[in-house]
Amino acid sequence: MPSAQAPPRHRRALITGATRGIGAATAEAFARSGWDLQLLARDSEALAAIAGRCRQSGVSVHTTTVDLADAAAVAPAIAATLDQGGTPGVIINNAGAGLTAPLVGTDADRWQWLLQLNLTSVFQICQALVPALRAAGGGLILNISSHAARHAFPDWGAYGVGKAGLQALSRAFSVEERDGGIRVSTLTLGAVDTSLWDSPTVQATFRRDGMLRPEDVARTLLFMAEQPDHLLIEDLTLLPAAGAL
Ligand SMILES: NC(=O)c1ccc[n+]([C@@H]2O[C@H](COP(=O)([O-])OP(=O)(O)OC[C@H]3O[C@@H](n4cnc5c(N)ncnc54)[C@H](OP(=O)(O)O)[C@@H]3O)[C@@H](O)[C@H]2O)c1
Repeated sequence: MPSAQAPPRHRRALITGATRGIGAATAEAFARSGWDLQLLARDSEALAAIAGRCRQSGVSVHTTTVDLADAAAVAPAIAATLDQGGTPGVIINNAGAGLTAPLVGTDADRWQWLLQLNLTSVFQICQALVPALRAAGGGLILNISSHAARHAFPDWGAYGVGKAGLQALSRAFSVEERDGGIRVSTLTLGAVDTSLWDSPTVQATFRRDGMLRPEDVARTLLFMAEQPDHLLIEDLTLLPAAGAL
C-alpha cells in the first residue's frame, strides 16, 4: 500500500547491486510495498531473475547492466536508466565489494578498483541524477556505509577509507542539495550475512550466525524511504546485537 505521506514521485526506487545480498532483499521488500524499481548490477541473468520476482508484486521493473568499477560506464548507465524508467524518488547506492589486505601490501590497482566501486561511482551516480531530481522537486539518496568507516579493523583499511569517504560525500551532497529538496542519508552497517563474505577478495573467519540479515537492512531502508519529505535521517546505524563483528 502506498504511504499516505509520500507523493507519487516517491514510489520509484533505483537500487544498485540489486542481484544479491542486501540489494536483492531490498528490491523484493520495496516491490512488496508497491514501489516501482530500477535495478542495476553487472550480472544480467541475475538482474532478470530478481526483476521477475519483483514483478510478481505487480510493480514495474527496469534493469540496467553496468560495471560500476568502470568509471566511463557509470554516467551512460544512469542516463539509460532515466530514459527507460523516469526519475526515481529514492536512490539506494548499495553496490559494493569488500577487500581484505594489509595496507602496506595493497596493490595500487586493487585500491583504485575498490575506491572506484565503493566511493567514486556513488559520486558519479549522484552527479548524474541531481539535475533530474532537482527538476522533479527533490528526492532521497540512501548510501550504504559500514561500521568500518568509523572503526579501524586490521586488513580492512582500504574498505574503511572508501566508506569513510562515502560518509563525507553524503554529508557534502546533503548540504549542497538540500535547497532543491534532495535529502542524503547514510545507513551504517555492522556485519550482514551476505555473499560479500564468500567473495574472492575477502578472507575473513567471522561467525555468520550472529550477523545481521539482509532482510533487516531491507526493512530499515524501506522505513527510511517512507519518511516524509520534511524529515532527514542523516545517518542510521545497525549493528548485530552480538557486537560489531
Ligand atoms: N555484508 C556486510 O557485512 C556489509 C556490512 C556493511 C556494509 N556493507 C555494504 O553493503 C553493500 C551491499 O553489500 P552485500 O553485503 O549485499 O554484498 P554482496 O552480497 O556481495 O552483493 C553485492 C552487490 O553489488 C553488486 N556489484 C558488485 N560489484 C559490482 C560492480 N563492479 N558493478 C555493479 N554492481 C556490482 C553485485 O552484483 P553483480 O555481481 O551482479 O554486479 C551484488 O548485487 C556494499 O556497499 C557493502 O560494502 C555490507
